[in-house]
Order: sequence, then C-alpha cells, then structure tokens
Amino acid sequence: MTHIRNIVILTGAGISAESGLATFRGPDGLWEGHRVEDVCTPEALARDPEMVHRFYDARRAALAGVVPNAAHEALAALDAAWPGELLIVTQNVDDLHERAGARRVLHMHGELLSALCAACGMAVRWAGDMMAATQPFVPSEVEGRLSPAPRPSTSLGTNGEGVTPAKSFQPPKCSGCGAHALRPDIVFFGEMPYEMDRIDRAIASADLFVSIGTSGAVYPAAGFVRTARHHGAKTLELNLDPSAGSVYFDDARMGPASVLVPTWVREVLGG
Ligand code: APR
Repeated sequence: MTHIRNIVILTGAGISAESGLATFRGPDGLWEGHRVEDVCTPEALARDPEMVHRFYDARRAALAGVVPNAAHEALAALDAAWPGELLIVTQNVDDLHERAGARRVLHMHGELLSALCAACGMAVRWAGDMMAATQPFVPSEVEGRLSPAPRPSTSLGTNGEGVTPAKSFQPPKCSGCGAHALRPDIVFFGEMPYEMDRIDRAIASADLFVSIGTSGAVYPAAGFVRTARHHGAKTLELNLDPSAGSVYFDDARMGPASVLVPTWVREVLGG
C-alpha cells in the first residue's frame, strides 16, 4: 500500500443501519415515509414548525434505543490509533461515532442532539426526557456555543418574513437571546452544510478517501470522491450496494459496514 498519512472518511446513513437507525433511501427509508418538502426544508419549518419539530423529536428519541455497531467501533479505534491526519466527515446527525469513542468527527449536516436558534445563531444541546418525543425537548442551559457557520436565518413564521405557520405552535425558547426561535440544528435542503472550508482542506491533503454507507445522492458530499481523486488521493468505497459514485472509486467493496469496516481498519493499522 502506498504511504498513507492523511485519511478522510465520509460516512452516511448506511453505517448506522445495523444499529437500527433508518436510512433515507431504499426499503423503509425515511424519505419513503415522509416528504423532504414537509420536514427538511426552510419552507417546511416556516409553514409547519410543529411537524418539523415532531419529526426530529422522534428521530432524537430513537437514539435512546440504539448503540454504535462494529463499524462505528472500528472507526473509533482507527481514530485513536492513527498518527496522521484523520477526519470522519459524517452526513449523519446521530451521535453514534462519538458514543463509539471517535473524536475527530465533523457533522456536515448538523446533529439531532443540537438545537440552533434561528434568531441569534447560537446552538445549544437538547436535553430532557428522550422518550417524550411528542413534546419539544427543552434545551439545556449548559452548552451554549455559537454554531460554526450560522446558516441563512430561517423564518420561523412568528419572526419570519410574512410567513404564517399553519398552527399556533411556539418553538422552544433560546437560552441565549430569549427568542422562541429554536429549531433542529439540522442542515435542511437548500442550506449550506457546516464547515465546508475545513472539509475542502482535509480532502485536498488526503492520501486516502474512504466512503462508507452512503448512496452518493446528495451534494456536496457526493462530489468529494472526485475532488479527492483530483488531488491524488486513493479512493475506497465500503457500501452495501453500488452507489451513484461507485465508478469514481479506485476500489469498491460491497457488504455490510459491520463486516467491511473492521476488516479495512485492521488492514490500515497493519494488523
Ligand atoms: N452497511 C453498509 N452500507 C449500507 C448498509 C449497511 N448495513 N445499509 C445500507 N447501506 C447503504 C445503502 O446501500 C445506501 O447506499 O447506505 C446507503 C444509504 O443511502 P441513503 O439512505 O441515501 O443515506 P445517505 O447516503 O446518508 O443520504 C445522504 O441525504 O437526505 C439526505 O441529509 C440526508 O445525510 C443524508 C443525505
């Protein structure tokens, strides 16, 4: 294997499938049961914030019942042992990489456990009874942080540009500015993913780019493999099925992540 020092790993919903979390496309996918336009766009949040909050409250509550699988554990072990640069860029909004022990993780599509204030841009951690999926979670007072890249503010109806929500739902109150303007800290379709500059820099200096459990259906993540190749990286895909981007990978292995990822990590660590 040519000398590998800097690794970028892109993960998608497929790495969490064997933990019991639904993927988006394919059998029983989240987008089979919900329309993106109803729960994952700024317009949906302005039109019916309660529906959007309930969708993400339910997905957040589901986290309480799942645990990382062998693929998450293997990536965490690689993260801990790898002496060079390593970045896990995940499209996933679950916390399974972190719960497995990974540290060098970047959530480009946001996080279920984070709430974003559409008025002041501060992000806080959700808290409260994870099973109370029917009630909006009350964010903790504890971890206030300005989100790394506040996205274009989304009108929540009450403070939006003339958009009147269908119901009288009042979003939870921001502990920073006091506005009832908390929204899920999820990057909706049409919004800017988080920390693209950091991702671009990591891919530009990567010797190896590995894609795990993603259909390659959504940009900019779907284009990362071509950028990595352009900069001279070796590229590997680990996926259950061929993806839209399989043709761009030097090597593609098909199978469940819980089998493929531990095997690959042992190869990389020389085990
Ligand atoms: N092991 C490995 N791969 C798997 C497994 C598994 N056990 N199960 C499913 N997969 C693969 C599927 O073959 C598919 O290619 O995971 C991929 C899941 O694809 P999607 O459901 O489209 O999820 P993802 O690629 O993460 O979606 C990207 O789309 O809707 C947006 O923001 C959302 O981040 C998401 C983005």
